[in-house]
Amino acid sequence: MINYLYSFFALILLTSCLKSQTLHSDRKSFNDDWLFMKTTDSLAATTKFDDSNWRKLNLPHDWAIEGPFSRENNLRTGGLPVFGEAWYRKYFTLNKALKEQVITLEFDGVMSNSTIYINGQKVYARPNGYVGFEIDITPYIYFDKKNVIAVKVHPEELSSRWYPGAGIYRNVWIESKNKVHIKHWATHIVTQNKEDSATINIKTTVTNNNKIRGAYKIETTVIDEKNQKVATHTTHFKFNAKTEKTLQQELSIKNPKLWSLDSPYLYTANIKVYKENKLIDVYTSTFGIRTIKFTNKGFFLNGKRIKLKGVCLHHDLGPLGAAVNYRATERQLQIMKDMGVNAIRTSHNPASPEQIELCDKMGLLVMEEAFDCWKMSKVKNDYSKYWDEWYSQDLRDMIKRDKNHPSVIMWSIGNEIREQGKKEGYILARKLVAICHEEDSLRPVTAGFNNFTAAIKNGLADEVDIVGANYKPTLYKKTIEQHPNWIIYGSETSSCVSSRGVYYLPIKKYGKRETFQVSSYDVESPSWAYPPDVEFYFQDSIPNVLGEFVWTGFDYLGEPTPYSGQDNFTHGKWTSDWPSKSSYFGAVDLCGFPKDRFYLYQSKWTNKPMIHILPHWNWENTPYKTIPVYCYSNCDEAELFLNGKSLGKKTMGVDKTDIPVKFFAWGKRPKMFSSPYRLSWNVPYEPGELLVIGYKDGKEAVREVIKTVDKPAKVALVADRNTIAADGYDLSFITVKIEDKDANICPLADNKVEFKVTGPATIAAVGNGNAASVEPFQAAYRKAFNGLCLLVVKSKKGEKGVVKIEASSKGLQTATLQIQTE
Ligand code: GAL
Repeated sequence: MINYLYSFFALILLTSCLKSQTLHSDRKSFNDDWLFMKTTDSLAATTKFDDSNWRKLNLPHDWAIEGPFSRENNLRTGGLPVFGEAWYRKYFTLNKALKEQVITLEFDGVMSNSTIYINGQKVYARPNGYVGFEIDITPYIYFDKKNVIAVKVHPEELSSRWYPGAGIYRNVWIESKNKVHIKHWATHIVTQNKEDSATINIKTTVTNNNKIRGAYKIETTVIDEKNQKVATHTTHFKFNAKTEKTLQQELSIKNPKLWSLDSPYLYTANIKVYKENKLIDVYTSTFGIRTIKFTNKGFFLNGKRIKLKGVCLHHDLGPLGAAVNYRATERQLQIMKDMGVNAIRTSHNPASPEQIELCDKMGLLVMEEAFDCWKMSKVKNDYSKYWDEWYSQDLRDMIKRDKNHPSVIMWSIGNEIREQGKKEGYILARKLVAICHEEDSLRPVTAGFNNFTAAIKNGLADEVDIVGANYKPTLYKKTIEQHPNWIIYGSETSSCVSSRGVYYLPIKKYGKRETFQVSSYDVESPSWAYPPDVEFYFQDSIPNVLGEFVWTGFDYLGEPTPYSGQDNFTHGKWTSDWPSKSSYFGAVDLCGFPKDRFYLYQSKWTNKPMIHILPHWNWENTPYKTIPVYCYSNCDEAELFLNGKSLGKKTMGVDKTDIPVKFFAWGKRPKMFSSPYRLSWNVPYEPGELLVIGYKDGKEAVREVIKTVDKPAKVALVADRNTIAADGYDLSFITVKIEDKDANICPLADNKVEFKVTGPATIAAVGNGNAASVEPFQAAYRKAFNGLCLLVVKSKKGEKGVVKIEASSKGLQTATLQIQTE
């Protein structure tokens, strides 16, 4: 009964959603009021199926993040239930006035192996979870009675090397449009700028499946960020018996504002189709005016050399899982920008539309990647199974969707694909590069090679426009000498590992520990990898290298290297890396809290004076008398003081710090590397205060203090935003701190905090950045990890008001906070 009522409301909602008077294209969210069940009952595809006991939810939805964590689930994919079969159903109705229209659904991505049924009929199936698709549902729907859509989602176990999420995890849209309309993803905007003007070439394909003859025109208007019309162009055309027509328009903009990293200016093209002066379709596409040029001397944006200061990002949003969220994506990118990042590699799959849109708006460059494997598999049930049938369309669709975005500067056809080691590997590479060029002749094609020597030998590396090297800084010089025309960069670098706020002595290169944590002295990295300093060094020595994409900006779910041994019960004993379930690679932890490495990159990549010292200063229980203190700064010099006494001034680049590394190309190991990128002092431990002062041009520019902190006394809450939109999507990220009586964060505190949220918001997730914690992400409590945890609250749709948040912990003073939804 309740579900019946619910569907009734859904009917009303959708009727009002697709309004009858709108007879040109009308695109709306199709996210609300779905029903969900984990079931293998194939009758769920049928119309009369009883779904009265199914769970109600709004999309985007990732069922795997709901848990539970289990040691039986693969740790590579985060110990979470990312596989199995589940169904989504939704009832909807359409106004009769839309009867002459085409109705389409657009899924931005379903993880994975989705099959879509409308009113019991199978209409579409797509294996790839990262690629968006549009379905024309017109032939299957009713305009006078209720429709039901059923979506089967069936991701397999061992289908990914990282956490993929599971379900309809990206947005869904419904659109009604005239039978004559601009084809999906079928505008191509190419800009060319001259001295004081820019030429905008727009290619638009109009489709007319019903062969409706007549006189038509398209009118394209370009508007600037202030909504001012800056150019317009009208093209008249006729449809005879043709079903499709591609029209070319050239517009000119005077004194255009260029899209750049500091000023990512965007224009919008509104393309309207008229039939005999009646508006029948509208299509909007955002673009930027900018030039990109890659040479063996560097990458140039609008003629200016830009070193790629990039990070690789997996698509999950930490405790929120894989479900797309605009604000969470924006926050992630903002944190990366604060670190000095100017480029994102969407490892190893097509990004969400939101991520690309945000990179356009925020001034970040994008290398969008299509595949992690081709025909040769990496894990049992990966994409290689679908390769032959789908690779061409999946690759084309990624490019079709994103080719107008100014942020996208190159397409990657693959990461560490195993065909590198095959004699004929180049043949497939050649095909893929040709597809990319056919779809977009302006952007170069790249790939990330780890089996570098083999990829060079078999000719694969010669096929791509730009050669990406994964973890090969020591080979840059030789490669450039042997291939002077190649354009090369570090497509994946460093893979340093660390846990926020964890420090072990003595400092060592790499290894597992019983705590399942990794020390944050930023020297630990697996056998194929290097600390950031080594990557910096080789890029500085060989400046023609375009730059790098660090593995990774944020920690991500799954791949908990070095603790990625799968659970195993042998000889009556678990040999296992459980409960490690998320990565240690990030410069920032799973919650978005910076680790020390964040500041190492900031010191190299930013100019505003900054300084950071590590570790914490609570060593009262250590047997070590002397504590190494590292300093990351972009200042010229730094001076460290312990309890007011100077421990000496040191000069960046001159006073080096020896860190253990391994150089494959330099023979013997282990080796020490004298890093010019960090300063260090060996400080005889005494409790109190460590002060560091950074000097630029001999003058104090910045300072930082760390203290021996007292025992935990209170909880404190700080929201990233105190007002959020009452749209059911917007989030406030609240940092929860365990503080001593003087409001210093207790660097070792692990107190459990309980949350109460009342008013127009709910708890979206909790987390603490501890890679070895299997506490649920959806709960009203969380243990702190080294003094911090995170509470994410989400607004309720349409409910405006005050949200009251209370955080309490046994024995500590409670904290309260209010935020507003508008
Ligand atoms: C690379 C791989 C990444 C990740 C990384 C960890 O070889 O491309 O996906 O696994 O290693 O260091």
